[in-house]
Amino acid sequence: MCGIVGFIGNNKKDAKDVVLSGLKKLEYRGYDSAGISLFDQRFETFKIYKDFGRVQKIVDLTQKVDPSSIGIGHTRWATHGKVTKDNAHPHYSESKRFIIVHNGVIENYEELKSQYLKNSNFYSETDTEVIAQLIETFSKSFNVETAILTTLKLLEGSYALLVIDTSDPETIYAAKNKSPLVLGKSKDGVTIASDLMALVGYANEYFALVDHSFVVAKAKNIKSYNLLHEPLQMNYLKINQDEVSAELGTYQHYMLKEIYEQPSVIRRIVSKYVFDDLPKIDKQIINQMKQSDRIYILAAGTSMHAGYVGKRMVEEITNMPVEVHIASEFAYHMPVLTRNPYFILITQSGETADLRACLLKVKKLNHPVLTITNVKTSTLAREADHYLELFAGPEIAVASTKAYIAQIAVLYVLANSLTDAPYDVKYELEKVAKSIESFLDHQNLANIAHDLFLKRNCFYIGRDIDYYTALEASLKLKEISYIQTEGFAAGELKHGTIALIENNTPVIAIISNKTIAKNTRSNLKEVLARGAQTLIISLEKTSQPNDDIILKDCHELLAPMVTVVPTQLLSYYAALERGLDIDKPRNLAKSVTVE
Ligand code: F6R
Repeated sequence: MCGIVGFIGNNKKDAKDVVLSGLKKLEYRGYDSAGISLFDQRFETFKIYKDFGRVQKIVDLTQKVDPSSIGIGHTRWATHGKVTKDNAHPHYSESKRFIIVHNGVIENYEELKSQYLKNSNFYSETDTEVIAQLIETFSKSFNVETAILTTLKLLEGSYALLVIDTSDPETIYAAKNKSPLVLGKSKDGVTIASDLMALVGYANEYFALVDHSFVVAKAKNIKSYNLLHEPLQMNYLKINQDEVSAELGTYQHYMLKEIYEQPSVIRRIVSKYVFDDLPKIDKQIINQMKQSDRIYILAAGTSMHAGYVGKRMVEEITNMPVEVHIASEFAYHMPVLTRNPYFILITQSGETADLRACLLKVKKLNHPVLTITNVKTSTLAREADHYLELFAGPEIAVASTKAYIAQIAVLYVLANSLTDAPYDVKYELEKVAKSIESFLDHQNLANIAHDLFLKRNCFYIGRDIDYYTALEASLKLKEISYIQTEGFAAGELKHGTIALIENNTPVIAIISNKTIAKNTRSNLKEVLARGAQTLIISLEKTSQPNDDIILKDCHELLAPMVTVVPTQLLSYYAALERGLDIDKPRNLAKSVTVE
């Protein structure tokens, strides 16, 4: 969601190349417009090139532009104002002295506008432009650093900002609150971006800006301050290029590649968390969890579905009570907590703003927090007491697949680390990896998808743990194919929603649990009687000869890792069939950094 890249260097690297290649790497976060500002040495002025649409448009627009030693760029995911060229970043201040790119949401921008900027003329409908205009207003009384700091102190909400003062082409100003921002350096200059991925190839080491901080960056001189203008320490870390870069290889889409990577992700997790055949998690985490009287899992979207499976596993394996909450709800309506709660945040990106809001509230109450994330350098990994890494490798497709599988695998290891009688984690997870592998080796779902998804709606049903897979399957299908889909507890359908079943409505059932298999099959009869077109996904142990997709058996608590795979592929092929942009579905973002 919104990407920012800025570069200032000696003249060896062209800022245009660094910024545009960085923006391309951030495309996966989801966006609808893009833009860049570069210094034009001949006319000694900064120019802005921007438009709605893809970064490639900006690459084409700037093809003949002379090299520049400084530039800032942005991919926008619209929040304030329509998807138009005027609303795309970068934005000017009124006199065009300041140029700014911004990721985040300024919650009090209307108040600021009416209090300080009554007489200003605006070029866009964005909250961002208010920041540029405020800096310009204060620059009439103060020097630039003080003007920016005065502005930052007034802002409520989230921001990662890059600011250029056009009268000084040797400096980029950066500031951060809530939205992520990292600064990397090399002998060629300084790159500042919202994601480490954009620094790869241009920086050897980096530091992550902290909230309410401000940076003044020149090619060879970087200073960081708090909002009182007091200097801050910059703790640089090495960039491990292998961990952050990802190539598409021979696959047509990242989503397909990531689905096929799932068995190796599971094996990597085993190699990181299982030793001498026993699950091993940091002792402090285990002790804190054992001392707690209830575990609260907080997450959003796909990660929340993994949380449901995690609840089921922890409760069955350890008998400890677990609650799962939607992060955006929990942040503003906390339920009555038990005396010693333990919090687990599940997040692929580690940057989800709804979760960050929860984290800040929970930390205020001094409760222990563990983040389970794929990005160990992320905000939520840094700010929790502990984190567990998913080791899924970069997930580029917006629709989460391998991170979901990894979340369940890590939760399974965690649940087993809490008991004196763990399952054979290595054996059980290997069985899952083999089952997925054998399905992927022989799958032929493109035809099924062709037949099934020319319809306008679809239902996934399942009971118990399969219900969670139904929720995840339905989210995956709707987010990339735009087919209206619902995931339902199979027994609940008849209490109202069955009214929507008509001739040829697709109903896909997931049946992995022997004890309730017959109940789900009765629910299927109910929809068949009303004309539904059904598809059954089962395991060998729950299968009947005419089931459509029969997967190799695994432990029943791990069945969601196996049964979800055909549903991921069905979604993929449905979107392919419809000619959609699979890796970058409309309206979605990979890192949801606004609340
Ligand atoms: C769906 C998807 C989203 C994310 C959700 C939370 O495929 O990716 O539903 O799961 O936005 O994001 P993270 O896991 O980064 O906190």
